[in-house]
Parts: sequence; C-alpha cells; structure tokens
Amino acid sequence: MIIAANLKTNFTRAKTTKYVDELENFMQSNNISQEVLVFPAASSLNFHDGELIIGAQNAYATQNGAFTGEIGLDHLEEFGIKTILIGHSERRHILGETQESLIKKFNFYKELGFKIVYCVGEPLEMREAGNETMMKYISAQYEGIDTEYKNLIIAYEPVWAIGTGLTPTLDDIEAIHKDLKQKSHAPLLYGGSVKVTNANDVLAIDNVDGILVGSAALYAEHFCTMIEYAQQLENNK
Ligand code: PGA
Repeated sequence: MIIAANLKTNFTRAKTTKYVDELENFMQSNNISQEVLVFPAASSLNFHDGELIIGAQNAYATQNGAFTGEIGLDHLEEFGIKTILIGHSERRHILGETQESLIKKFNFYKELGFKIVYCVGEPLEMREAGNETMMKYISAQYEGIDTEYKNLIIAYEPVWAIGTGLTPTLDDIEAIHKDLKQKSHAPLLYGGSVKVTNANDVLAIDNVDGILVGSAALYAEHFCTMIEYAQQLENNK
C-alpha cells in the first residue's frame, strides 16, 4: 500500500528533518515494506537516504527561469527528488490552478519519469448535486491526464473532507473508488480527514490502495501507526 503525508505549509527544514528521521527509524525497525511518501514544504526539501520517499508538493513546469515564487526542476534535482503532487484541491481552489495548467505540469514531469500523485475530488455543492453531476465533475479532472502512465498514483480527496474532520461513509468511499478504478488502473489513494481512528477501516476498503494524510500526519506517531495498519493489512492478505 501507499501511505503519503502531505505536510502542506507546516514544519521548517529542521523540523522536517527530525520528522523524516523518526519515520525512517520506525520503518527500519518494524520491517515496513509499504511505500511511504512524504511531501514537505518547498523550503524544507532535502536529500533523504532511506526507504521513505520525499516528494514535492508543487513545482512549476520548467527547468528554471523567470517564474517568481515558483521552484523548478533544478530545485528538485538538487535533492534527487523524483516525486511530485499535482492537482491538490488547495492548489486548484486557493491558488487557482486550472486543469490546463495542471495538464502542462503533469506532462512536463511525466516526460521526466517522475512519480506523480495526481489529486481529484469534488466540492460539497457537487456532491450535493447528485452522483451524476459529481462524477461528471470528477471526470473532468481526468481530462488531458495520461491515466495509464506507469508512475501515476491517483488520490481521491473530496474537497469538503479535507481538514474538516468530515469524511464520506466507508460505503461511499468504496462506491466511488470502484467507479474511479474504471478510469485508471493506477493505485488509488483516499484522502480527506484520515486519522488514526479511521485509517484502518479506510485502508481495508476494496480498491483503496493507500491514503494521503494531511493534518493527522503532522504527528509522527499517528502517521507511523497508520503505516503499521497498512503493513498489518498487507501481511494478513
Ligand atoms: P487532511 O488533508 O488529512 O488534513 O484532511 C488531506 C490532504 O489535503 O491531502
């Protein structure tokens, strides 16, 4: 399974290093064979020699150049980073990234062979508009994306569940993951208010290949417990 931590705009470089070391030690001492991804803030990116993989929360579709406030491939290559998160709802809705700009970014990093975690998910009004409208909205987020790209991971994250403590029911997650699996064979993560208290249940759902965790991942101990849940589920298969 794939267990990913999106640290968002949290943790300085020093704190991130400590956090990553804690996770790495946990993985080594517990024989964890799950894929663990950590997405620190851009200024906290660093080399990491170990099992877990460091990814960027964002980067511009460029090697370098005049794009004030952005980082490019040069900044990722400096630290050997080959994993990127694209299409997170905070970038779509708060930072105003369009599907067109995401496609450009996706293709740029795909050409370079990056592991891409591509996020999709509906805002509350789309969910409330009924299944058909909701699926149409989510389908549009697949447009222009190579859904068969070999290093693709998709994360389904309902916007209204992110950082709110609200989650769809387990049945709802199962139903939507089943539908989304028709669109791509890529591993499909669930994200949105995953906590220690619900992670095990979410991970056990059919067609859930892992989780993308925000707020709860800021507690290393909690995140390690979620990694352990995934390991146990996999061991018991
Ligand atoms: P959350 O965030 O776990 O705080 O809901 C998830 C995400 O944004 O990826």
